[in-house]
Amino acid sequence: MLDIQPKIHDENRQGEAFAPFAQDPNKYKKKFYIESYGCQMNFSDSEIVASILNEKGFGATKNFEEADLIFLNTCSIREKAEQTVRKRLTEFKKIKEQKPGFLIGVLGCMAERLKTKLLEEEKLVDIVVGPDAYRSLPALIEEAETGQKAVNVLLSRDETYADIAPVRLDSNGITAFVSIMRGCNNMCSFCVVPFTRGRERSRDPYSIMAEVTDLYTRGFKEITLLGQNVDSYYWFNESSKEIVTFAKLLEKTALISNTLRVRFSTSHPKDITDDVLYTMSKYENICKYIHLPVQSGSTRILQLMNRTYTREWYLAKVDRIKEILPDCGISSDIIAGFCTETEEDHQQTLQIMQYAKYDMSYMFFYSERPGTLAERRYKDDVLIDVKKRRLQEIVDLQGKLSKESNEKDIDKTFKVLIEGSSKKSDEHWMGRNSQNKVIVFPKENYSLNKGDYAFVKVTNCTQATLLGNIVEIINNNK
Ligand code: 5AD
Ligand code: SF4
Repeated sequence: MLDIQPKIHDENRQGEAFAPFAQDPNKYKKKFYIESYGCQMNFSDSEIVASILNEKGFGATKNFEEADLIFLNTCSIREKAEQTVRKRLTEFKKIKEQKPGFLIGVLGCMAERLKTKLLEEEKLVDIVVGPDAYRSLPALIEEAETGQKAVNVLLSRDETYADIAPVRLDSNGITAFVSIMRGCNNMCSFCVVPFTRGRERSRDPYSIMAEVTDLYTRGFKEITLLGQNVDSYYWFNESSKEIVTFAKLLEKTALISNTLRVRFSTSHPKDITDDVLYTMSKYENICKYIHLPVQSGSTRILQLMNRTYTREWYLAKVDRIKEILPDCGISSDIIAGFCTETEEDHQQTLQIMQYAKYDMSYMFFYSERPGTLAERRYKDDVLIDVKKRRLQEIVDLQGKLSKESNEKDIDKTFKVLIEGSSKKSDEHWMGRNSQNKVIVFPKENYSLNKGDYAFVKVTNCTQATLLGNIVEIINNNK
């Protein structure tokens, strides 16, 4: 998986340390180090935390050895994600033993799920802060400094951090994520998110527009609107009586500038509307890419998962997307081995993948999470070896589908936004097309910079990347 894809949950992208790109170390009285795990929302929250801490005189460092405070922004989505964080906390605890006054804080979903456990019982951390309580972080640091227990895991019905300008951490200066809502009301039976991130609430669209406009003026060229379920975004303006749906919000964002690309994630198959699809088709700068998690191809399993759609409904959605947006890329999340899943259910998942021809998928085997509906209602009865074998079949099929999808792009020309030099070679640019596929191509003698657009013709591909050559450059000063 690639590092800067818009994605909601990806615990493979773990433990990245972030430091703001332009901070004067002498400006701040203390230094903090933050590591983020899990979904893009967590990475986005770390930028809010950095902003709150900067305001109070704490500066970010990329080097945990020089930090006074260490924060881990954590993920609970699968058991493995929590194990990784525990291991890391144990390592930091060892450092703490040799460094008096050094504080360790746990943020995010694990803080919310385990509450005081990591502090009181396991004595791994000094500060515990849930996703809706980041404003209280400076006060909690003060409490922890005096040896008190510093915990705030209150969930909120209205906190959206709308007024906080995130400090862009570890940014390429071209692509950024903008959170448009928080929480989730869906109650998929396998998922811990509604318990750790609370009720769904939408952020004021005017603050979203202000943030995006500011990013654009600072040279950013692509923004991804983020939410657990963006299609249920809803805002009602009491005074003007204006209703802002997700389709409306997309349109407003697209209208900021036609040189600013707009992406979004994640869509729920039950909620994505024709309105959204038509808005996507109306604006060239809204990227033709939808992350539409299916989870399972079997209606019976989907019912147990509480996904509230059937196999047929999902297939009809895919048809509708392809009808309105023939060149749209589609990706998915898939869970292998959910409670009671039979071989036949699993075959239906493989079939639905073939039908939808996903360009990419995030694939997992089911991991029972404490407190979820599935944990309370159903037995986790698919043997681990069976789960793993089914997952492998899903991964293999996805590999084949990704390769086929990329091969179909050979000889096509795409408009590519350049994100920077390719990791492997300074002589090559790396960018993405509208469908979110990575394209690598030689810089040649063109005078291009990151943030510029170019037309690139695809000549070859691997399973994960398209390779090509520039055929035309665009007047990027417009
Ligand atoms: N086990 C396995 N995968 C899960 N996901 C969410 N909860 C679980 C779980 N308990 C996956 C879903 C979701 C993605 C973010 O993570 O596929 O879409
Ligand atoms: Fe979890 Fe379902 Fe909400 Fe996604 S939509 S965060 S899978 S409950």
